[in-house]
Amino acid sequence: MMRIDDLIAQMTLEEKIGQLNLATPGGETLTGAVANQDVARKVLEGSIGSIFGVKSLATMRAFQDLAMRTRLKIPLMFAEDVIHGYRTVFPVPLGLAASFDMDLVEKTARVAAVEAAVMGIDQTYAPMIDIGRDPRWGRVAECPGEDPYLAARLAEAQVRGFQGNDLTSPDAVMACLKHFVGYGAAEGGRDYDSADMSPARLHDVYLASFKAGVAAGAGSVMAAFNTLNGIPMHANRTLIRDVLQKGYGFDGLVVADYTGIMELVPHGVAEDLAAAAVLGIEAGVDFDMVSEAYVSHLADAVAEERIDVALIDEACRRVLEAKEKLGLFDDPYRRMAGDPDKVLLAPGHRELARRAVAESCVLLQNEAAVLPLAEGSRIALIGPLADDLVNMNGTWAVSGLAKDAVTVRSAMEARCDLSFARGTNITDDPALADRLNVHDRGTPSASIDQRSPKELIAEATAVAAKADAIVAVLGESKEYSGESSSRVDLRLSAGQIALLKALRSLGKPLVAVVLTGRPLVLTDVADLCDALLIGWFGGTETGNGLADVLFGTADPGGRLPATFPWAEGQVPLTYAHLPTGRPFTGKFEKFRTGYLDIPDGQPHNDGLFGFGAGLSYTTFDFTHPAVERSALKSTEDRLRVSVEVENTGARSGSTVVQLYVSDPVASRSRPVRELKGFEKVRLEPHTRTTVHFELSADDLSFSTAETVTDLSWTFEPGKFILSTGPNSRDLQHIDIDWQA
Ligand code: IFM
Repeated sequence: MMRIDDLIAQMTLEEKIGQLNLATPGGETLTGAVANQDVARKVLEGSIGSIFGVKSLATMRAFQDLAMRTRLKIPLMFAEDVIHGYRTVFPVPLGLAASFDMDLVEKTARVAAVEAAVMGIDQTYAPMIDIGRDPRWGRVAECPGEDPYLAARLAEAQVRGFQGNDLTSPDAVMACLKHFVGYGAAEGGRDYDSADMSPARLHDVYLASFKAGVAAGAGSVMAAFNTLNGIPMHANRTLIRDVLQKGYGFDGLVVADYTGIMELVPHGVAEDLAAAAVLGIEAGVDFDMVSEAYVSHLADAVAEERIDVALIDEACRRVLEAKEKLGLFDDPYRRMAGDPDKVLLAPGHRELARRAVAESCVLLQNEAAVLPLAEGSRIALIGPLADDLVNMNGTWAVSGLAKDAVTVRSAMEARCDLSFARGTNITDDPALADRLNVHDRGTPSASIDQRSPKELIAEATAVAAKADAIVAVLGESKEYSGESSSRVDLRLSAGQIALLKALRSLGKPLVAVVLTGRPLVLTDVADLCDALLIGWFGGTETGNGLADVLFGTADPGGRLPATFPWAEGQVPLTYAHLPTGRPFTGKFEKFRTGYLDIPDGQPHNDGLFGFGAGLSYTTFDFTHPAVERSALKSTEDRLRVSVEVENTGARSGSTVVQLYVSDPVASRSRPVRELKGFEKVRLEPHTRTTVHFELSADDLSFSTAETVTDLSWTFEPGKFILSTGPNSRDLQHIDIDWQA
């Protein structure tokens, strides 16, 4: 990068530090508590290197014009949180993870990139690849779920989708893996809080998706808000420099999170902003988001010899290299020259979004095959989210518009004889109702119905009494998940449960569609309804995609990417827990693991619905897994596993063939099972296919780290159990003996 060397040689210290300052003017999108002031003046002074949170192309051009008037004409880079779509909004990331369809996920990221890039965006703060095993944490909605293998595949697919084959292309955006690292493990599911874990768990579970995303070529990484083992990630030199950079060979840009450098003061590791700036740059955080700590204090730190100027040069080089990789030096306006009207919400984008909804929604129960709805039947559509625009896009859809979304009501009305009643408000708590009663840029929110709960339920039961079947669209508000949206109560509101009870008493087929950004406690809901469909927050095409599934023109394609608890007290929760010395035997026993207050016959050490669960409208038969050889003799060998799947029903449909591995005896206790492969297959009635998996010794190895910088992994020869099936519980097993 000759051009970068030349440039750095010409830059003053102040100009270099200016490149490290990442600002948002606020106004159009605000994703934190404060915004930067006088952004235009600072750009002209050369003290801002990149801008995020700007929506209008005219504003971006005006800022870029100012940058072009600076001495060295270094272009600005524009960033945005393009998390699950830009203007065409796809299901929230937890929903996309449920699709178990990496080709689809890559395509959604591609569309997001194309739409963002035509609006001037160079970099997206995505994919979010934190492991989420605690559904109290609001940001589980944005995450890939509980499993490191699935998260790693999602990281790769999204990096490919965002960045395309050529980052200089005007329709490619730079990906940013976030949040590095351990954010999802914060205690109590509290946002911005502390995580504490063993080095081996960190490597096995929380770092795997970052390692995969780096190997896939992600151009940037964002530091996390949490502390890890006592060290805030924005000051975590060991993890950023020794693991991410030296260990994984990451040579891209490390971005701070919003005021993350400034927060080193309240975290209690820096006395003031000046000390925070030093800790941040020493840790390897190149880009200071919003804090203005670097621009205010690093020049003094160099002058007073508290830091070496080489640290500034190194960070500045990474910022300039990012701009070079994006082609901005050749044309600073390269992502501002397209025609947004031809790109945003293009029919193909909406079509993909509709398919993504169907492929993501998870059918957890379907008594008496009440779904799909019988053609020609009269349907009562009930529930606070059935006719709601504002909540459909879910959290972190900062460039999506509620008015573009399709509600369940409008999509169903076009297809059947439908009557509608709200039945209840999304919450019974007036204070919460107030907080949730937000407007989405011009679109009025699903306003709160002032009638009493009794009146609302009476209206709903009167409407439902005249129908052949009832579809109740229930769930959370979009404000219930996302940043700073931790919750202690994971059940649906009492009003929604009361509504379901009233509807149940009518004795009609009852379908509950639950829209949520997190695994919920649905123990009551599952008892009250015949069919239970998790629709997540589906984005722009929520209504159409759900209607496709409800009427059976699409099969429900999703499988759970995270365990749904039986009760809140079980969380955090994962199917891949370690064995205990006193394993659960199926019923509570004194002096064995289990919960005193969970009845026998209910899941104690597992959730109500497990990882990978989900039904199709058809049925599948899985053969026992077959292996080419069950005794392997060298670590160079490959373990080849196959399983035959047959669609034994009368409809076409899909299933996700899942491969798990257990290592029953090792030098450390290993998870009871771990996902090591999956493939989504679609089959016509009475057809079959064979799915092949191949594992290397590396795939069966695990971290033996004693310290966080210890990158050692080991393959321990011996017995392994391979398990295949349609979810993490209904599995068939085969033993393998693998000697080194
Ligand atoms: O990218 C986000 C991050 O995930 C949370 N804090 C704000 C950032 C920028 O909007």
